[in-house]
Amino acid sequence: MTSPITRRSFLRAGAAAGGAVVATGCAAEVPGESVDTDPMSEVAFISHIGAWQPGIVTPAPRHAIVVAFDTTATDRDRLREMLTALSVEVDLLTSGTPAGPGDPLFPPPDNRITGITPEPDDLTVTVALGASIFDHRFGLAAHAPRQLAAMPMFPNDRSDPGRTHGDLLIQICSQREIVAHHSLRRLMLATRGWLTLRWMQAGFQELNTLGPGRTSTRNLLGFKDGTANLDTHDSPTVHRYIWVSADDDEPEWTVGGTYMVSRIIRNRVEFWDRTPLVTQELIIGRKKESGAPLSSDDEAATPEFDDAGEVTPLSAHIRLANPRTPGSERNLILRRGFNYANGFSTDGQLDQGLLFVCFQRSLSDGFLAVQARLDGEALEEYIRPEGGGFFFVPPGRTVAGEPFAAGLLRTTDLAP
Ligand code: HEM
Repeated sequence: MTSPITRRSFLRAGAAAGGAVVATGCAAEVPGESVDTDPMSEVAFISHIGAWQPGIVTPAPRHAIVVAFDTTATDRDRLREMLTALSVEVDLLTSGTPAGPGDPLFPPPDNRITGITPEPDDLTVTVALGASIFDHRFGLAAHAPRQLAAMPMFPNDRSDPGRTHGDLLIQICSQREIVAHHSLRRLMLATRGWLTLRWMQAGFQELNTLGPGRTSTRNLLGFKDGTANLDTHDSPTVHRYIWVSADDDEPEWTVGGTYMVSRIIRNRVEFWDRTPLVTQELIIGRKKESGAPLSSDDEAATPEFDDAGEVTPLSAHIRLANPRTPGSERNLILRRGFNYANGFSTDGQLDQGLLFVCFQRSLSDGFLAVQARLDGEALEEYIRPEGGGFFFVPPGRTVAGEPFAAGLLRTTDLAP
């Protein structure tokens, strides 16, 4: 049995897995080392310099905004300027550098919506590239991650073109909602010459205070979400399933990066709330209260799937998502989604759902394989994917102020 771990140790361990240096308050903290920190302070400034970007194996905080942009940059130099401006602003925000008063005859350097002195808040900003960045505009096509393509329509999708794809995706995560909005405003101000909004979706969740194999986080269908997720504290797992490695058939600059899928999946919550509990549990394949698989009473137990599907139906979500058959372990993904609630639509139905986010080293082994198995699942009647896209998260920046995707820009500098 896994013993519950505190949120603080969980956060430290997760940051360590990401190789990030974490500062709590003003004290620098090297992951894995014990540091005497303010016990009142549970949150940190998370360094954005390292082998890979934060916001992936970093434990998910309470809030997220996923924002897709298109770029108005017309050539590679302008693209580099944008990726550099973004980098500089991300470092200022995530290090808690106070913005000065500025010159009153100019717009203020900070909007002050979070006050004057930046407070630590587990803020992470993760920047990803869409397939369209590799089109004719910047001459980058030959250097694209091999599997990156615009997200296709899946059979149950009702994608809204205005909420799909994008040249660039920014995922902002924080404990306080206002911090994410503050960061978005600052990032947009810093990049206004090159980026225009395409779509965005804010999300929220309760923190997971339990260790790997269990979760306290629930989605808007009322089920525990994240129980059987990848263990981000386990370095071999992280390397096997998340980061592109030098052995992969991928351009060199992508090593330490990862494929990101983001999907806005609306839940038909009124219909769900009128569905009997036994049916709900058969659709998901887990018990609602405990999160245990239908074959057990223990949330952390490995599900056992009976051939006839009498205990766990053949169409159950977890059974299709991870059948645990020989070879299916190739298809594990890191899910890091958030709930969303956008009020209601004109038909009087609540507009709620899952801001699904997952990361994987290979799109074809990861999301695409899992989604193909989920096509036709019993849950489909209750969900409607309405937007999102496929993106590639470049590796981390090794020096402050270095543009995102510096390796890509360097490669193309040398290209004929
Ligand atoms: C609104 C849509 C969705 C809902 C409400 C939902 C809900 C759930 C729930 C309740 C679980 C069981 C708890 C857990 O292990 O986390 C689960 C597991 C899982 N889901 Fe989903 N999910 C949705 C969409 C997706 C999508 C789009 C994918 C990937 C294509 C996916 C992949 C998985 C995987 C891989 C598992 C773990 C299965 C296992 O290893 O046992 N889910 N989901």
